[in-house]
Amino acid sequence: MSGHSTYVPSSAIGRWFESRLPIMGLMHSSFVAYPVPRNLNYWWTFGAILSFMLVAQIVTGIILVMHYTPHVDYAFNSIEHIMRDVNWGWMIRYAHANGASMFFVAVYIHMLRGLYYGSYKAPREVLWILGVIIYLLMMATGFMGYVLPWGQMSFWGATVITNLFSAIPLVGDAITTWLWGGYSVDNPTLNRFFSLHYLLPFMIAAVVGLHVWALHVVGQNNPAGVEVKNIERDTIPFTPYATLKDAFGLVLFLIFYSWFIFYTPNFLGHADNYIEANPLVTPAHIVPEWYYLPFYAILRAIPSKLGGVVAMFGAIAILAFLPWLDTSRVKSAAFRPVYKVFFWVFVMACLGLGYLGSQPPDGGYVIAARILTAYYFGFFIIIMPLLGLFEKTKPVPATIADAVLAKNGATASAH
Ligand code: HEM
Repeated sequence: MSGHSTYVPSSAIGRWFESRLPIMGLMHSSFVAYPVPRNLNYWWTFGAILSFMLVAQIVTGIILVMHYTPHVDYAFNSIEHIMRDVNWGWMIRYAHANGASMFFVAVYIHMLRGLYYGSYKAPREVLWILGVIIYLLMMATGFMGYVLPWGQMSFWGATVITNLFSAIPLVGDAITTWLWGGYSVDNPTLNRFFSLHYLLPFMIAAVVGLHVWALHVVGQNNPAGVEVKNIERDTIPFTPYATLKDAFGLVLFLIFYSWFIFYTPNFLGHADNYIEANPLVTPAHIVPEWYYLPFYAILRAIPSKLGGVVAMFGAIAILAFLPWLDTSRVKSAAFRPVYKVFFWVFVMACLGLGYLGSQPPDGGYVIAARILTAYYFGFFIIIMPLLGLFEKTKPVPATIADAVLAKNGATASAH
């Protein structure tokens, strides 16, 4: 799908280099001439926003590491040192901490966009599965990063989550001890989490490279959910159209992000993390960061510990099977009136699970979490396969060009 590159370097040196390593031609065919469907809406700007956030997290992270000390005796104070003594340290730290949240805001929108428009369906299965791998890596990275300030929530969050592995029959305790590097969360744990927290973003970057490569092979899906049939009529060049749209989307997103950094930098955090980790004092409520809350609710909705762990990981793993669970021949929810309703209920169920994950695991909260967990899995295992067989879909435009013309008031037959 990569556009045919018409790139010819203007200088002799450029031509000399290009005939030896055609990297400018590759950039040109991927990000300038690359044909994108002409009907993409703003939900398609989140891939670019995510790419920006990945770079922002790596850059701010590298600066933080220059002043951070991964040792149980110094970690907490080194963060306070960054906040108070290092020039602009507070800003870099708030940008990184809130950046993690913004990264997840963007990835959830990006994933829901895929779910709504059927972007996971053939021929984009590999592209989607690479996305699920990125998401898993992001979850691991965020979790290990949160441990680094060595506050109360860092310590107790790490203790709760690593203890989950002890639910595995026979080898669970051995695995947990191995993960900790000792008999509790302690200095070796902090050290290895630091090491992995530094490494994983680069692995994410590598998988993003494959993700974008796969995207350029199969081409983008679009709101109409029909494939490109005629390059001339159905697509426009990436630059300037998509580049400018992405840039505008990114600016709006940066305003939102900056508002958190500069006006309410601790809103998404937890006050207990400003108390240094103390293995002898357990906080009243141990809650993970907001982006894990729906999964935390699923974990606690299941009465058995092992069952909860399986359900929690299953809730993520099931995403990888989506291309085969959805039996509908129509991709976009715009033409699937019944799916659309179930989709929005699914979004509400995820938000509901998120709320329940922040509440104590008792009484009505657990019952509600069980109902929503059942819906979460039912959506993928029952609704998606069956709906595809029985739903009466609306007429799908024959081509992307037709979809655009229909939207502009012209009838498809006018062309
Ligand atoms: C660091 C995280 C990620 C980055 C940087 C990233 C980047 C991108 C980019 C640049 C695009 C093309 C522009 C767009 O469609 O928005 C894209 C498309 C796509 N991504 Fe991601 N992505 C990330 C995570 C994910 C995740 C977690 C999933 C799903 C689980 C996912 C699934 C998809 C799919 C299905 C498409 C094709 C969408 C379409 O053409 O309709 N991505 N991604």
